[in-house]
Amino acid sequence: MKITVFNGSPAGADSTTNVIVSSFLLGAQRGGAETHNVFLSEKNIKQCCGCFSCWFKTPGKCVFNDDMPQLMELYDSSDIVCFATPVYTWNMTALMKNFVDRLAPLKSPKITEHNGDFDLADTKVKEQKFIVISNCGFPGENNFKVMKAVFECCSPCLEIFRNCGKLLKSHNQSAAPHVREYLSAVEQSGFEMIHKGSVSEETRKRLEMPLMSVRDYVKFLGM
Ligand SMILES: Cc1cc2nc3c(=O)[nH]c(=O)nc-3n(C[C@H](O)[C@H](O)[C@H](O)COP(=O)(O)O)c2cc1C
Repeated sequence: MKITVFNGSPAGADSTTNVIVSSFLLGAQRGGAETHNVFLSEKNIKQCCGCFSCWFKTPGKCVFNDDMPQLMELYDSSDIVCFATPVYTWNMTALMKNFVDRLAPLKSPKITEHNGDFDLADTKVKEQKFIVISNCGFPGENNFKVMKAVFECCSPCLEIFRNCGKLLKSHNQSAAPHVREYLSAVEQSGFEMIHKGSVSEETRKRLEMPLMSVRDYVKFLGM
């Protein structure tokens, strides 16, 4: 079982997103998965220029010569693809959005209809599963609304949305036991995903645990 994470945080390996991803991949490795952790910030990915050459002139091939062909190969050959990004302005980062735009060569210019919704067909029938991992700086779930709606199109089998993300890399004493407990739940979710093919309700509940009261968190941020 091959799982690839594409991390869209500009902070790359130092990101809070990667704290969550690392625990998840540790569990996945324990379950026997081959794992790949790609930091988009380290890659040369030009911005999609919207020429549609990859559909109409040279199907499946982009006009740009950058790192995308290798990344698309990794994407295509993975059994599980994980989009990992912090929330920037209620959405995924520009790095992640650009990466997702540049996956256009994997789509065919054929419009499909499902229950009155219209989309594009994939060039190959996809068997792979999708996971979304995100963290945000504020408390509350509203920060993930937009991302949830955008990634709905790939029907993720697991979404890990962590609010109060600033605690994950902090040395805050009172949060430390909760952070440890949370990251062990994340690791468990990675293990279950590979070992059983899904994550139990019990583990999903643990992924929603608060790390700190909103009042204390706002005080911790000093905002
Ligand atoms: C430009 C910018 C926009 C942000 N927008 C939001 C936001 O809308 N909601 C939120 O809760 N946090 C927001 N944040 C905070 C980040 O989500 C937070 O710092 C996160 O922990 C960064 O994760 P990373 O270390 O994985 O990059 C924003 C941060 C930046 C730099």
